Amino acid sequence: TQRVFSGIKPSGDLHLGNYLGAIRRFVPLQDTHETLYCVVDMHAITVWQDPVDLKRWTYEIAAAYIAAGLDPRKSIIFNQSQVVEHAELGWIFNCVARVGWMSRMTQFKDKAGGEGGENSEQVSLGLYAYPSLMAADILLYKATAVPVGDDQKQHLELTRDIAKKFNHDYKKQIKALGGKGDFFPVPETLATGPAMRVKSLKDGSKKMSKSDASDMSTIYMMDDADLIAKKIKRATTDADALPSEAAGLAGRAEAENLVGIYASLSNRSVDDVLGEFGGQGWGVFKPALADLSVAVLAPIADEMKRLVSDRGEMDNILRDGAARARTIAEPVMAGVRDIVGFVR
Ligand code: TYM
Repeated sequence: TQRVFSGIKPSGDLHLGNYLGAIRRFVPLQDTHETLYCVVDMHAITVWQDPVDLKRWTYEIAAAYIAAGLDPRKSIIFNQSQVVEHAELGWIFNCVARVGWMSRMTQFKDKAGGEGGENSEQVSLGLYAYPSLMAADILLYKATAVPVGDDQKQHLELTRDIAKKFNHDYKKQIKALGGKGDFFPVPETLATGPAMRVKSLKDGSKKMSKSDASDMSTIYMMDDADLIAKKIKRATTDADALPSEAAGLAGRAEAENLVGIYASLSNRSVDDVLGEFGGQGWGVFKPALADLSVAVLAPIADEMKRLVSDRGEMDNILRDGAARARTIAEPVMAGVRDIVGFVR
């Protein structure tokens, strides 16, 4: 069976984009694939994190995984820093990847302030090397499928480049050690569906994110029912009625966003949703979307609260997940050390 790896950074409260772009899509994969879902705490500290918040968010994400339907007996659920091989392989990939590859990453450019990097005295070296640690996360388990939202596609492309360059640079050693061809598989990005890029509720040109200045632009997984309804009611839209098929949403970013959210939350296609709501105005659609959002999110939030209230139990789950992750990672890492030429 194919192996799936994905991760979420504990650097803020989880929001609807994380749920629809990632967590919700993780769940069905655990029945068809071997699945590893990680809380990437080492990635989180590439920007400053208060240690108390870092722990709280780590537990919160692990709880969200379980509350959304991941079964810790089926899926390996753990936090990255408990498997030190991530750091070890990340270092080796720092020596495989090229500086130019990192410089082209749009997420880094956004944070470091453009090509020349006017903020380069302010951003950490870890932020720059972020994608090679991400490549290590995936390739440490020789994962072949990675479910993520749209914004991670470029990082995944770089993971593929690192896998290819490692296989190429060490071709002779891989063969000499009995390998038949490539050591690392080149993983595929799984990013299809109506909500791969959930937008800000206030600005259809921006993605929904943990760090938006406006509280009304983001639906957090822990928001209560009233707040969710209020945020949806106040979401920016145009004044037109809904079209009766997906093509009619072209050029209407805010409308496309809200309909996409509805489709994703209800496991329906955009055309199917518009078949029901086409011709209706926002006064009908928004309350329906609010009801659906609350119906899906409220039970998850309740279960998250219950789970995070018992940190001892969460510790057991994460420790057990880390131990199972290590049984996959250790032989891969032993192979890498041999290939690279490290004496043991
Ligand atoms: P992070 O923590 O920023 O986001 C976690 C997941 O949520 C998705 N996402 C969204 N999807 C749709 N619409 C949005 N507005 C939205 N915002 C976030 C992201 O695409 C992601 O799937 N670098 C990664 C974490 C990571 C990782 C990995 C992922 C580290 N190692 C290995 C996969 C495999 C990140 O910062 O995600």
